[in-house]
Amino acid sequence: MQTDTRTSGGRGGGPGGGPGGLLRTKSIEQSIADTQEPGQRLRRELSVVDLVVYGVGVIVGTGIFVVTGTVAKQYAGPAVALAFVASAIACGLAGLCYAEFASTVPVAGSAYTFSYASIGELPAWIIGWDLVLELALGAGVVAGGWSGYVAELLSHVGVHVPAALSHQNGKFGFDILAAALVLVLTGVVMAGMKLSARVTGLVVAVKVTVVLMVIFAGLFYVTGSNYHPFLPPSKPNPAGSSDLHAPLVQVLFGFTPSSFGVMGIFSAAAVVFFAFIGFDIVATAAEETRNPQRDMPRGILGSLLVCTVLYVAVSLVVTGMQKYSSLDTSAPLASAFKAVGAPFWAGTISFGAAVGLTSVVLILLLGQTRVFFAMSRDGLLPRAFSVVHPKFGTPYRTTLLLGLAVALIAGFFTVGQLEEMVNIGTLFAFVVVAIGVTVLRRTRPDLPRSFRTPWVPLVPVLSVCASLWLMLNLTVETWLRFAVWMVLGLIIYFGYGRSHSRLAGGQTQRTRTNA
Ligand code: ALA
Repeated sequence: MQTDTRTSGGRGGGPGGGPGGLLRTKSIEQSIADTQEPGQRLRRELSVVDLVVYGVGVIVGTGIFVVTGTVAKQYAGPAVALAFVASAIACGLAGLCYAEFASTVPVAGSAYTFSYASIGELPAWIIGWDLVLELALGAGVVAGGWSGYVAELLSHVGVHVPAALSHQNGKFGFDILAAALVLVLTGVVMAGMKLSARVTGLVVAVKVTVVLMVIFAGLFYVTGSNYHPFLPPSKPNPAGSSDLHAPLVQVLFGFTPSSFGVMGIFSAAAVVFFAFIGFDIVATAAEETRNPQRDMPRGILGSLLVCTVLYVAVSLVVTGMQKYSSLDTSAPLASAFKAVGAPFWAGTISFGAAVGLTSVVLILLLGQTRVFFAMSRDGLLPRAFSVVHPKFGTPYRTTLLLGLAVALIAGFFTVGQLEEMVNIGTLFAFVVVAIGVTVLRRTRPDLPRSFRTPWVPLVPVLSVCASLWLMLNLTVETWLRFAVWMVLGLIIYFGYGRSHSRLAGGQTQRTRTNA
């Protein structure tokens, strides 16, 4: 598989129906027919191993390299390992739904494209709007994680990034390294450069090697006493700390907001969910998979399983090397090795993390430009954004605009400030996808599905519950921000997208003809 930063592909047409046009859909048959056209057809050549390699390439990133430290310190102690398992279960359920969705509308693209062709325009817009949180904001978060490791690496050669140009010690600053990485990668996406399968494979190999190094080298530095207590007892949040920073579920049900304890595992699971983001991108390769019915679930669940095993092992080792309360929050894996007097390993890990995280930022940025491109081509965003560069064949305006926005976000905000927003947006998209699968089984039972989610509606219902449960464990502040984001999205849709949609134009024309 190649991570091709150019854009191609036609689109289906034809307005559907629905109350007030909100559920009008693109024709699935046309979307699929487009992919069969000569020159538009993707080769079915991916095996289950390719899918797992691709999955691990997209999934392993800032979540394990950075978020583990923060979460162990704030919510769960060494029991962060259990949080990874809880989060993985929710992702596995969502993955099974995603795979059916992707294979019913097997066109290259994202959940936005699938839902537009199946459930309707408004849900598609909502998913597209949520994907901005997952992809654009996600790219900013991973760039922030990258910057922490590059700064750590530079410190080995005596170069120290000034506090004003980083987020050191929690002080306000502009993270120059993170912003610079986003700008450089924006250039790569604009120029339509390709990450060949070989480069992707190499980056994945470096990343996995580093993670394995942490596990096996770290084992020698584990001190048993660091695991006591494994699950630190529940501790009420300090008096005077605002409810805004407490998980919504605790505030809703009148618990005293607290950290650690059993509820701490769920708060931690909702945050480390970030570490699994990206497995849904694997589902978008259904069209390129040799035997999707057999290989898609194996590819998705296989990459989730590999990542879960790695994450559990890394978190156990790191919390065994250093007391959870002393873990670093910007480059915890490397810092744990420094803390035990093994700077060589720390430098090597930082180098590998920097290489590995670059590809995650690139894939997320690329995914975001494609979603915006598709939304603009459908008329839901201004058409100017889908103009393709004559030489590079990429949607350069969208890419540039997004790149600048993500660079600013990555510069001004820390990983901790943004990651929960990424999680809530992605989890909400999972909820819509799981509902969509069930609805489509009833409304379009005739559609060929190269992969069918097992035990419908049980699995989608469990998936909705698991995603909602994780969402409820995110802070009140995150919910408020998310509500503002969604309201903004609806204002844009009703103020612009609904009337400018290509399908709306199609409907007007038809009405005129009929009259
Ligand atoms: N799962 C990806 C990461 O942890 C987004 O960086």
